[in-house]
Amino acid sequence: MAEQDSAEAKDYSVHIPYERQGFHLKGMDHADWGMQNRMARIFPPATGRTLMLAFDHGYIMGSTAGLERLDLAIPPLLEHADVLMATRGALRAAVPPGHGKAIALRCTAGSSVLDEDMSHEVIGVAVEDAIRMNASCMAVQVFIGAPGERSSIDNLVRTTRYFLLATRMVAELGAAIIKTYYCDSFEKVTAGCPVPVVIAGGKKLPEAEALEMAFRAIREGAAGVDMGRNVFQAQDPPAMIQAIRTVVHQGFSGRQAFEFYEETRRQSK
Ligand code: R5P
Repeated sequence: MAEQDSAEAKDYSVHIPYERQGFHLKGMDHADWGMQNRMARIFPPATGRTLMLAFDHGYIMGSTAGLERLDLAIPPLLEHADVLMATRGALRAAVPPGHGKAIALRCTAGSSVLDEDMSHEVIGVAVEDAIRMNASCMAVQVFIGAPGERSSIDNLVRTTRYFLLATRMVAELGAAIIKTYYCDSFEKVTAGCPVPVVIAGGKKLPEAEALEMAFRAIREGAAGVDMGRNVFQAQDPPAMIQAIRTVVHQGFSGRQAFEFYEETRRQSK
């Protein structure tokens, strides 16, 4: 028990009004302190943007090109990411517990690429297990308009209209961050979505194109990127993740980031 304190408490600074601090992410002003704390780990306040490294592909694809040996592929990339987006198994296999990065834990399961209809995922990780992994957020996948969705939505293909609908629906259902693909008129998708949107990279593109896509997404309102194959299948994955970082956190254009990539590759040889 603390000793009795003889000093009188009197410095209340009564002339200094309490500062009302807004939160730096949209849709989060009224979230609880713990939620804001986790979101701030994902989106560092200095830029309000995030660079997520996705390597959860094995949960549907098994051994994936570039990720054959998680323990060799992932450690050189860790220091350059803000967030690690992965399954429990991949984290345990490739990431030392002392790494200090935020975790976006893949929590859905149930489909594989062997199944033509992959839309029947269920929650495969309980909240308690996510807490045990010290996850900052639980990543779930939804398939709007696919057979696995309960009520079907007719005639939707992956157009801007589709992404406008899907991102908005998922945000209104309570998601705190939306990961989606980049599309035409992406600024409408980010404007119409009340919470931060990050893009997935998708299939491997030439490095210059992937960086240009990341640049356009950020310019059009994305709060970050969550890229996997365009990092770990790049010719030089550490150089690539650093180049993406310049787009996300330093305002580099796609072209500047590609020059950075080439220069970083040259220096590392
Ligand atoms: C999809 O949901 C996967 O889980 C990946 O996390 C996501 O697609 C991002 O990886 P990539 O940039 O390789 O598409």
